[in-house]
Amino acid sequence: MAFEVRTVKDLDEFTSAAFAIGQYFGMVPTEERMQRFLDLITLDRMHAAWSDGAVVGGAAAFTFNVTVPGGDLPTTGVSVVGVYPTHRRRGVLRSLMRAQLDDAHERGEPLAALWASEETIYGRFGYGLAAFCGEINLAHEYMAFAQPFEPAGMVRFLEPDEALEAIPPVFERIRVDWPGMFSRNRLWWEHREFRDPEEGAEGAGPKRWIAYEQNGAIEGYAVYRHKPGWEAGSTIAELRVLEALGSTPEATRDVWAFLLAVDWKANLTASLLPPDHPLFLLLATPRRMRYRMGDGLWVRLVDVGAALSGRRYGEEGALVFDVQDDFCPWNEGRWALEDGTATRTDAEPDLRVPVQSLASAYLGGIPFSALARAGRAEELKSGALMRADRLFMWDRHPWCPEIF
Ligand SMILES: CC(C)(COP(=O)(O)OP(=O)(O)OC[C@H]1O[C@@H](n2cnc3c(N)ncnc32)[C@H](O)[C@@H]1OP(=O)(O)O)[C@@H](O)C(=O)NCCC(=O)NCCS
Repeated sequence: MAFEVRTVKDLDEFTSAAFAIGQYFGMVPTEERMQRFLDLITLDRMHAAWSDGAVVGGAAAFTFNVTVPGGDLPTTGVSVVGVYPTHRRRGVLRSLMRAQLDDAHERGEPLAALWASEETIYGRFGYGLAAFCGEINLAHEYMAFAQPFEPAGMVRFLEPDEALEAIPPVFERIRVDWPGMFSRNRLWWEHREFRDPEEGAEGAGPKRWIAYEQNGAIEGYAVYRHKPGWEAGSTIAELRVLEALGSTPEATRDVWAFLLAVDWKANLTASLLPPDHPLFLLLATPRRMRYRMGDGLWVRLVDVGAALSGRRYGEEGALVFDVQDDFCPWNEGRWALEDGTATRTDAEPDLRVPVQSLASAYLGGIPFSALARAGRAEELKSGALMRADRLFMWDRHPWCPEIF
């Protein structure tokens, strides 16, 4: 069935489109809330699908840059995707994805990225799982570090106003080296990081910001909440870490040491941590974190040539890919990657990959060899998988610390 799909023209249309997903989250679409949302998304990045003159679905995109190995690329930050339950499974999502990816292509954004409500939805549109992440729930009695150390700096509290000025530059310094992280503009910091509505706290207290200073400079920070609680006269309080980052290994260690040591809690919880998080090596009993891993960031190479040319590689080398991409046929076919630049070629391919697998390997998160073992990449010339793994590997697992 064909649906009219176009970008919205005003706040009313924007609200109807946002409500396509909002209704599943119990959202009350007040004007103030929608205006705040619109500040971050803009009308020209909200696609809506219409049926009989009414909005029946929506798909939005934030405009930001995602860090890639050795670079930073404009990205369609897909979000707010939903279809009214009255019109499900009639192709509304497919029409929206078509319009959104065509738009991204025209804008020249080489990547699209998203967090999926369900893993089953986006593969058919060319998205591949590019980064894993996981949650922890660590009981207070297991906070000990494996090796003794003296903190190298000091922690102090920041008032939100002060934090709004002090923290973004620290985040940005860390962000530019970490594949998978995305840039946050001022409005993003104000609306998403520093706004602290009571309903967002889910029973916990307000956000507390701390800065970690070394030699007079802020080298790390954390934002967390306390969720107080009592049971049989003892605390069952939770310290909920929302974000904790350090710009040096010492800063990361000391920020976490501070959080872990906070008294009068039963548990420390955090989510979205990467599987190579330093805590695994810092803690005396890392298994007590009960790390539960799942899918994190999904990536789509909107423009295979620009995406491959837009990152750096672990070593010099050449490789020819035969890319399969039925949803964005402009990517389909053979690409030669040589000295960091991708061009069209007629040469015999080394590897055959669906575009989803190329996306999974792109940020350095999932080796081609692992994809091949899962039947998601095919080695056409002996040794090509190992060569591809060495080219695409980076110094860390990609990490997106925030659901957008
Ligand atoms: C997920 C959702 C957007 C799908 O919309 P839809 O209009 O029903 O999807 P379409 O009819 O265009 O389906 C396109 C394809 O995706 C498949 N599909 C859609 N939703 C799916 C789901 N939740 N799980 C598995 N497959 C799904 C369809 O079966 C169809 O498959 P095909 O290409 O093999 O024919 C809609 O169900 C929804 O709004 N769900 C609740 C909110 C949500 O999860 N949004 C996503 C936020 S990340």
